[in-house]
Formats: sequence, structure tokens, C-alpha cells
Amino acid sequence: MIKKISIEELEPGMEVVQVAHDMWQRLPYLYMEPGIIESEEEVARLLELGYKETFVALDDGEGMTDEERLNELIAGRDHDREQKPRVPFHQALGDAMVTYEDAMAHAMHIVRDAKLGRKMDYATSLETASAIVESAVSNPDTLVCLAKLSDFDDYTYTHSINVAAIAVVFGEYIGMSREELILLGVSGMMHDLGKTTVPAAIINKPGRLSKAECEEIKRHPAYGRTILQRNGDIPTQVLEAVKHHHEKYNGSGYPGGLVRKDIPAFARILCLADVYDALTSDRCYKQAILPNKALGIMYGMRDQDFDPMEVQLFIKCLGIFPAGSFVRLNTGEYALVFESNSSQPLTPKIRIVMDQAMNPIQTRDVDLMDQEEPPSRIEIVDCADPSAYRKNLLSYLSGN
Ligand SMILES: [Fe+2]
Repeated sequence: MIKKISIEELEPGMEVVQVAHDMWQRLPYLYMEPGIIESEEEVARLLELGYKETFVALDDGEGMTDEERLNELIAGRDHDREQKPRVPFHQALGDAMVTYEDAMAHAMHIVRDAKLGRKMDYATSLETASAIVESAVSNPDTLVCLAKLSDFDDYTYTHSINVAAIAVVFGEYIGMSREELILLGVSGMMHDLGKTTVPAAIINKPGRLSKAECEEIKRHPAYGRTILQRNGDIPTQVLEAVKHHHEKYNGSGYPGGLVRKDIPAFARILCLADVYDALTSDRCYKQAILPNKALGIMYGMRDQDFDPMEVQLFIKCLGIFPAGSFVRLNTGEYALVFESNSSQPLTPKIRIVMDQAMNPIQTRDVDLMDQEEPPSRIEIVDCADPSAYRKNLLSYLSGN
């Protein structure tokens, strides 16, 4: 397993490993040069240079629990989307749209069954999650894009599918197995099912909630677990993920007040996907926040809500301009990001779709990584007005 230790604990023979870089601010005290430590002198030199901590690979993989192995995966070193062979975005989008629509229909069924106290069709949940996993493996940007641009507008269902899709994309990015990803997807689809037990008047209340109403809302993860357990055929890993998806890194979450790695890995991933989708979605009481701003806000929640390493990894996975971002360019034109670039996050692949006055134009694709030098270089200036998101932007991406 990979463990963070102080430089004082470092010994000759230990292997220093490189983990996800802090892409926002370098940590000057974290030693990250991979390799075997050769001597005591080398340790002394690192201390002299002011390093305080490092990550090492400890050879105790035998007998690890699933949870420990997942934790190791999340802290792992080879997270790089670009290394995996992908189906090109525009080719993969059609299948992903079918998957997304089928998943929406299934989300409606499970919510209806939960409300009526009927047994949910878990076999179909597994099939639906499998299709989401296939889409994520084939091209993860399609799902991230659909999560932002699909024009279904019932938050209850879109949110559950978006959380499933984004959690699976992140799980795939960190190297989870297909079986794990399917259960993670199921957990995402079902994470808020407990809200069917909370009175609708509280769920839909636009104004401020009373203390008692807040307490009732906070029971939804536990209600969700009860519903799923009653189904009789849903694995414990899913039950626990649903129960703990509102726990926080610093222990201030609910229902258990669990801290750090005591929170199940699935639940921590659901929490990242849940917060990202909630921030970037329109709700009755707030406007959507732009994807890049939402990721910035989430970075600010490190150490409180999220493990700092994990939220950085999540940001790296989605990119500073996630797929589906509508952006303004230095040329004054507008474009849609369709492929993020996790190693060079400011230079995704984009499709230019509108002129300076936001009139549709003959679209053209540009890989911002692969361009001429200035002054003709195209750059993203900012994410564009969120109200533009409501103008069926997806249709611009669905053609070749
Ligand atoms: Fe929730």
C-alpha cells in the first residue's frame, strides 16, 4: 500500500512513489522524486533541504481488505486518462446518449417502486450501471458532457444518473475493476432514494428549512439504506455507500460523523460526484455554477468536506474545463469543450459553435494542445454565461 510518512521515518531501501500532483499549488515540503532511498545520508540531505513528508510504497499487499485496496487505488500513482485507448468522442456520443436516456427511465422506475414500497428490479439496476460503465470505458467525456448538457429537467432523476455517471468516470480514472464500477454506479443511482421517505413538502420547500425539517432531511441516507436493505438482494457495499454519502472528511457530516478513511471509499466518491453535480445544476433556489468555478469551490472544501488528495484527483480527472463546458475564446467566439486534457488542463479539445454575437456558425473542432504559436493561438478566456446552457447545446456536439 501507499502511505504518507514523515521524512524522519524514511529508511534506506524504501521506495518513494509519485502520487497525484497538486495542480493548484505545489507543496514545497512534499518530496516526490520517485525511486529507492539508497542511504541514511540521502534521508539526511532531504531533511536539510527542508522536505517534511513523502509517499512510500509499503510491501504489505497481502491480506488487504477491499476497502484498503480501494484506498490504495485512490492514492495510486498512474492516473492518466490519456494512456487508455478511447473511442473518439463524436463516435461514442450516440451510444452514451442512449445509455443516459435508458438510465433516466430506470431512475424513474426505482423512485416509483421505492415510493410505493415495492421491490426494486435490482437486475435492471445492474444492467443500467453496466451500460454506464461501458460508456465511461469507451469515452468518459461523453458522460461528463451529458451530465451538463442533457435537457431533461427533473433534478431528482438527472441528479441520480449524473452522480452515477460522474462517480463511475472517476472510479474508472483511478483504475477500479469493472465489477466495482458497476456497484459504484448502482450506488450513485440509488444514493438519494431515501428522499422518497422524507415528506415532499420538505424536499421541495424553496425557502429556509426549520431545524426539525433539516433534521428530517439529514435522515435520508439512513432511510435509503433501509429501503435498499428491504430489497433483500443489494450488496452491503452499496448499502454502506448510500448510508454514508453525506459524511465529511473532518467528521462534521452525517449520519455517522465518520472521519477520513473511516468513510467507505464508495461513499467518498459519491460525495465528490454529488457535490459537483449539485453545484453545477439549476435548482429551484439557486442558479447553476459554472463547472470550472464549481471545481474551484470544491478545492476550497478540501480538509473539511474532502480528503485534499482525493478532491485534487477528482479535479484532475474532470479537468479545469470539464467536457460540456461552454467557453468564450480570445477570438470572441464561443465553443464547447468535448474532451478534457488531464495532463494539460487548460488545453482541452473544443468545438467552436457560435460567433461573437452568439449566432450559430459552421462548427469547427480545435485541439488547443496542437496549435500554432501566438498571435494566432486560440485560448479559452472564461466559461460563458450559464443561461446559454439552456439553449440545447448538446445538438452542436451530436454531429460529426
Ligand atoms: Fe443525499
